[in-house]
Amino acid sequence: EATGKSGYDHYMLKEIHEQPTALRQCFSGRSDALAGTVTLEEIDEIPQPNAVQFVACGTSYHAALYGAAILREMGIPAEAYLASEYALSPPPLTLGTLVVGITQSGETADTLAALRDAKSRGVNTLALTNTVNSTAARECDHAVYIRAGPEIGVAATKTFSSQLVGCNLLAEELVDGPRDLRPLIESLRNLPDDVQSILDSSAAEELVEEYGGSDAYFFIGRGTNVAVALEGALKCKEISYEHAEGFPAGELKHGPLALVTPDTPVFAVVTGDDERARKTLGNIKEVQARGAPVIAVTDGKSNAAEIADETLMIPETEERAAPVLANVQLQLFSYHLADALGRPIDKPRNLAKSVTVE
Ligand code: G6P
Repeated sequence: EATGKSGYDHYMLKEIHEQPTALRQCFSGRSDALAGTVTLEEIDEIPQPNAVQFVACGTSYHAALYGAAILREMGIPAEAYLASEYALSPPPLTLGTLVVGITQSGETADTLAALRDAKSRGVNTLALTNTVNSTAARECDHAVYIRAGPEIGVAATKTFSSQLVGCNLLAEELVDGPRDLRPLIESLRNLPDDVQSILDSSAAEELVEEYGGSDAYFFIGRGTNVAVALEGALKCKEISYEHAEGFPAGELKHGPLALVTPDTPVFAVVTGDDERARKTLGNIKEVQARGAPVIAVTDGKSNAAEIADETLMIPETEERAAPVLANVQLQLFSYHLADALGRPIDKPRNLAKSVTVE
């Protein structure tokens, strides 16, 4: 088994370090940097949908939240649904809606049930998956592969990063142009190097020395960074067994703030310098006023790093690519926290890599 881990202590750490390769594979051959175009040959015949409904579970649901957010920014009505809810309480569908299942395994029972429900109601379905010929890939009208390579660790890492890139490819292929995609293409092309620079220099392990043993860990963000906050918390609880929760930053004042104390570090994901970033800076001050230490995960475009108690820096990039980078920092924090606590990182208790029962 040690050979399979290529010298890493855990598959999870190996797979975190495989992300530059996974991202390169996902993006390779699917863009033309000079022309500024993206092509997903598998689906270049699909007309622009009137609306998109994503269905997914767990980490893949967080990718779905990201995918829906970027499609809405492009003017397409899009929502992310938890597959376990979708199948039993199906939302209305109009003709021309595309239902997209995001599932790394392609075998998650709840996601398959949701996709089958959508198909039975007469709309087109698409699987965004890592597994060639999986049930989702076979049963859907279309399949797009994220090409992340095999993932053994129960906690999804490289498949999530590749799902985010896959969502960009999907969105750009589905929505009619013209648009100049050169900045986006450049940022997606640079992602492998940007991730590598985080892997080479992350301060996440030192933060564990400082903050390991806290009562709970909170994660906040806005826009596409809500997906990163939720994923950061999920990863933390899955493998460290510590209490962790992620919230859209604006919701803090509607309840979670009651939980904030000097013993609950708050990870604030702040990328860019727009209204969302500025509002999140306000949330940082709110939790600091209650004594909570704040760790900013930031590209340095806003002054989050100056306000926060600690910083996990990510390289500057386009808005769409920044969540991938911020998430890598949070993966590393959760990994090192779980490692310091001696948890069985690759096989957390009670969890399975692929849940094939509803
Ligand atoms: C399980 C795994 C998670 C995964 C989820 C959805 O709960 O432990 O890591 O995110 O299933 O899996 P899928 O294969 O559909 O992406």
